[in-house]
Amino acid sequence: MDRNAALEQLGEHRATLDNQHLRDLFAADPQRFERFSLSLGDLTLDYSKNRITGETVRLLVALAEAADVAGQRQAMFAGEAVNTTENRAVLHVALRNRANRPIRAGGVDVMPGINAVLARMQDFAGAVQSGEMAGSSGKAFTDVVNIGIGGSDLGPAMAVSALSPYRGTGPNVHFVSNVDGAHISDTLAGLNPQSTLFLIASKTFTTSETMTNAATARAWIAGALGEAAIGDHFAAVSTNREKVAEFGIVEDRTFGFWDWVGGRYSLWSAIGLPLAIAIGFDNFVQLLDGAHAMDEHFRNAPPAANMPVLMALIGVWHRNVWDMATHAILPYDQRLHLFPAFLQQLDMESNGKRVTRAGNPVDTGTGPVIWGAPGANGQHAFFQLLHQGTDIIPCDFLIAAEAHETLGDHHAKLIANCLAQSQALAFGKGEDEVRAELAAQGMEPARIDALAPHKVFPGNRPSSTLVYRRLDPAMLGMLIALYEHKIFVQGAIWEINSFDQWGVELGKELATRLLPVVREAENTDRLDSSTRGLVERIRGLRA
Ligand code: F6P
Repeated sequence: MDRNAALEQLGEHRATLDNQHLRDLFAADPQRFERFSLSLGDLTLDYSKNRITGETVRLLVALAEAADVAGQRQAMFAGEAVNTTENRAVLHVALRNRANRPIRAGGVDVMPGINAVLARMQDFAGAVQSGEMAGSSGKAFTDVVNIGIGGSDLGPAMAVSALSPYRGTGPNVHFVSNVDGAHISDTLAGLNPQSTLFLIASKTFTTSETMTNAATARAWIAGALGEAAIGDHFAAVSTNREKVAEFGIVEDRTFGFWDWVGGRYSLWSAIGLPLAIAIGFDNFVQLLDGAHAMDEHFRNAPPAANMPVLMALIGVWHRNVWDMATHAILPYDQRLHLFPAFLQQLDMESNGKRVTRAGNPVDTGTGPVIWGAPGANGQHAFFQLLHQGTDIIPCDFLIAAEAHETLGDHHAKLIANCLAQSQALAFGKGEDEVRAELAAQGMEPARIDALAPHKVFPGNRPSSTLVYRRLDPAMLGMLIALYEHKIFVQGAIWEINSFDQWGVELGKELATRLLPVVREAENTDRLDSSTRGLVERIRGLRA
């Protein structure tokens, strides 16, 4: 069977579910949770609150087989150039290959190089954390500022915040990404140049936003401490050693990685250096261990018992069979407040593609819009639309069984809220129940007629829940790797290249061309009327 036939069968199967509410599916099967949940160590995925049956899973697995997901997975782990448009291997899994089995790219085992960089990261992070490494005037570093954007920012920034309970006694770690001068300006306000270390993180070392911020940071240090202090106050993480050297950062402060690490998959490389400084190298290794455990599960578990594969297939079910275009990420974990933004890049830059690997237009929807925010805050903002809006939005809930804090009943309330939301989405509240409640309050029948439609919750809205013991480094590693592989499987089914990002190029080119116009070094004659009008309005306001 080919992929399209498998999708067609799923479309036909959907009709059998059209008239079945999740309420009916749960009532018919007291074992539904056992049937549609799966654990790996301390992590459990409950996917029972999606509109699926055993037959749905069977047909989805047939789709994965038709798309040869297993073959594509094998090719990635074997170091084949699965990033076809850039002719590169995709080996973020090698970065956390804690078993240290040889993994080859272009015939060469990448593990010795990875281990060597990890050893240097360990020394560097340890020396910065302990204060052994000091600035040009002999002061230990109190603050580390990571300058990077996209994959060189979102992963480490998200993880530093997620793992704040593991922060050692070392320096504070800050992140500057936006070319908006407000970002670096607000970050540097209050910092002392003598005790500030900058990490310039850029795979290419050419990204305009990062290089602009790096130049500002360089001037800030040189202005306060003199040009000779640059070497002591800067380190770099990049694949472009030449450009790093041109910037004035010395070899032993430069941490390399490789073209087979995609920016959005690079947290596990030296891009994780700010995280290693924040939480200590041993904890960083725990993160790698957690991701490796998920890699091994992904590589070995059969599709129907494979967490990333199941999550991907349910996502395809929603995206392609039910035409649901967005997907909400709802961590009931305040420290994961940057997780939705991190997953936005991971998923949307990977699977926001309109042509197949062969260059033909895709014939199904591809990556959904990923969005979200932590619960319980979201409940008081956008959940109204999740429950009663006209679009159905599949949700992922994430919740820890244990908090790091023992603060009264905060965590019990957080858990209750999380579980209540997926319950409300799935089961809703029917009109009969609403009417009975209003009548019990003594409301007039006419008022009940008027109010009841507004108070009905249709339910039957899909969600999955990830429960874990607590948000520790290993668990964060597992969670990130879970989503990475989910995205891989979806890209494999859609026959797209999840590892390039040509869609970001045009905006960069146009910004470069517009810069002289904005600076008033060029006139607006060649611009379209909207852009010209906007430039002239901005010029007018600035004058
Ligand atoms: O423009 C998009 C992008 O290339 C991302 O894919 C990447 O993570 C980010 O820019 C930053 O790139 P770099 O690490 O090369 O500065």
